[in-house]
Amino acid sequence: MADQTALSPALLDYARSVALRDDDLLRELHEMTAQLPGGRAMQIMPEEAQFLALLIRLVGARRVLEIGTFTGYSTLCMARALPADGRIVTCDISDKWPDVGAPFWQRAGVADRIDLRIGDAAETLAELREREGDGAFDLVFVDADKTGYPHYYEQALALVRPGGLVAIDNTLFFGWVADPAVDDPDTVAVRKLNDLLRDDERVDIALLTVADGITLARRRE
Ligand SMILES: C[S@@+](CC[C@H](N)C(=O)[O-])C[C@H]1O[C@@H](n2cnc3c(N)ncnc32)[C@H](O)[C@@H]1O
Repeated sequence: MADQTALSPALLDYARSVALRDDDLLRELHEMTAQLPGGRAMQIMPEEAQFLALLIRLVGARRVLEIGTFTGYSTLCMARALPADGRIVTCDISDKWPDVGAPFWQRAGVADRIDLRIGDAAETLAELREREGDGAFDLVFVDADKTGYPHYYEQALALVRPGGLVAIDNTLFFGWVADPAVDDPDTVAVRKLNDLLRDDERVDIALLTVADGITLARRRE
């Protein structure tokens, strides 16, 4: 049985050359975002975006919730994977960066599938639970402020239907989660969520050690 293969830049290039299917529009948004302050670290990697799109199709998702829009690169990839009558609610605390990405949603012809909510995610999620009801979403992607992760996970689990999927980004958090000397609030919150997930009988889980770590949690029926 093979052990984990270390991912060198050359191997990542190879993997992309045989498996990455992006296009000019996605590349343009990704490259433009990478020029913004902190942009490179904030947006998901292209292969992760492709993976999310695949998950949407595997789950047969029609209703998706994203917590953490930024310039909407992940939003765009997920919106394109939805059926024409599908919808993605995406939320961010500020409209500054989503406004940068919104023209790309238009150009891709999927703006009508995207429902952007501006405000603190905790409030947006409470409002969604009240107005849309628990179990209203097929898939939830969590990718906002890390100190909010334990709370966002609980809300996401309520908002996703039984059999639906919660995907959580950055669960390896630059490797800091494994270093006990790192105790900043972000790392502590991600560690707390990882510990909770390990023992959470409400879900089936897998932590994919790709990109910055993506944990998939399927809500048990
Ligand atoms: C890692 S970025 C999201 C990246 C995006 N999913 C992508 O791949 O392009 C995190 C986003 O969460 C937003 N955010 C931070 N704190 C928030 C909060 N309390 N409520 C809602 N959004 C928040 C930030 O403004 C930022 O745009």
